Amino acid sequence: VFTRDAAGHALFEGARLDALFAGAHGLTTPAYVYSLDAIVAELDALRAGFDGAAHLVAYAVKANSAGPILRALAEHGAGADVVSGGELQVALGAGIGPESIVYSGVGKRDEELDLALTAGGPGILSIQAESVEELGRIAERAARLGRRAPVSLRVNPGVLADTHAHVATGHDEAKFGIAAAELPAAFALSTGSPHLTLVGLASHVGSQLTETTAYLDAATTLLRLAEAHQQALGALQFLDFGGGFGIDYGDGCAACPADFVRALVALVRRSPFADRRILVEPGRCLVGAHGVLCASVLMAKSARAADGEPARRWLMIDAGMNDLLRPALYGARHRIEPMASQPQAEAPRYRVVGPVCESSDDFGEAPFAEPLPRRVVIRDAGAYGFTMASQYNGRALPDEVFLRGGRVVAVLRGATVDAWVSGRLG
Ligand code: LLP
Repeated sequence: VFTRDAAGHALFEGARLDALFAGAHGLTTPAYVYSLDAIVAELDALRAGFDGAAHLVAYAVKANSAGPILRALAEHGAGADVVSGGELQVALGAGIGPESIVYSGVGKRDEELDLALTAGGPGILSIQAESVEELGRIAERAARLGRRAPVSLRVNPGVLADTHAHVATGHDEAKFGIAAAELPAAFALSTGSPHLTLVGLASHVGSQLTETTAYLDAATTLLRLAEAHQQALGALQFLDFGGGFGIDYGDGCAACPADFVRALVALVRRSPFADRRILVEPGRCLVGAHGVLCASVLMAKSARAADGEPARRWLMIDAGMNDLLRPALYGARHRIEPMASQPQAEAPRYRVVGPVCESSDDFGEAPFAEPLPRRVVIRDAGAYGFTMASQYNGRALPDEVFLRGGRVVAVLRGATVDAWVSGRLG
């Protein structure tokens, strides 16, 4: 049962969480529960790190696109980093102004580009171009609409971040960003075309960075590049250093999000671009620790092992890899605790598994004392939890519950099994 995180943000009280599912709310597991207070406090703490420097926190909507979260972040001055027309629409619908939205991603459809160019009338702050070829496509769409497209060049800084290979994006082998050798052509096209205005330079090295080195290396590269092309960059409004600030999943995290920002601001202030706006694109660090996945225990299963080995024990829960994919996809480990009682480190260990027919539907080991809990909490599931959920195996999508001051202020209902059945039958 945990009530505060390391930074002192109000979190979830186990007994109250348990009452949500036992009480009159009509809530069932599996369900995500989020603390809007803690999410907003996290944004405020990050923004304080800018120490008066002009900035925009462009929240990476892919981490969690729930309307109540987007609205709360928008009210506290966040913009958005989107990667699809769908995310762009949800950000706009939640009240994030088009002038505070950047659009990243290696493959954008024509209709998505058109939406970005026209959103709210004048279009969004910037379309982040990931290749010279894409610059050509953006110019063509802008020409058709009789517009000038604001573009930023997403540079591949050639930095290999020390993180899971699936989420490292800033190295030479990654599909992301414009390689150094292509940059002269990208600068020439973006500053020479009558349909493009070069408004920014951007980079992103990867996700779940637990120390600042790779991030600052990439930032230094970006600033050097900007300096080398200074004449071409008259209209440059911002430098976007991407997201990736890590959180503590239980093994510690040397750098907190504001550490990245403070070091970044110091770098920019020493450069010729001290007067430009600094953008960052954090996703995980704003929401990750402030959402939990709540599940019920279906039953325990045990199997005697051969030759005096300890018996194997599994705890079957009603959440599966379709609800939270991170353990199956990345081998990620999330702390799993009884919902209504204290975790007991010395208790027998169980492998906590879901009902999906895949061996990777396995959340890892956790200790549980007898009597076994009725419900468990999977911690730090606020980022890349619901947004990566699916209805695999004909399952429902989890509900999402939003708390403010410990009270339920909104519930988003996940797609039901009945909806899945009728969708499949067509
Ligand atoms: N900006 C860009 C261009 C990105 O590609 C990403 C994440 C972000 C910002 C936000 O990164 P964050 O601050 O959240 O680390 N599903 C994976 C993470 C994938 C990250 C993809 N890009 C996971 O569950 O760990």
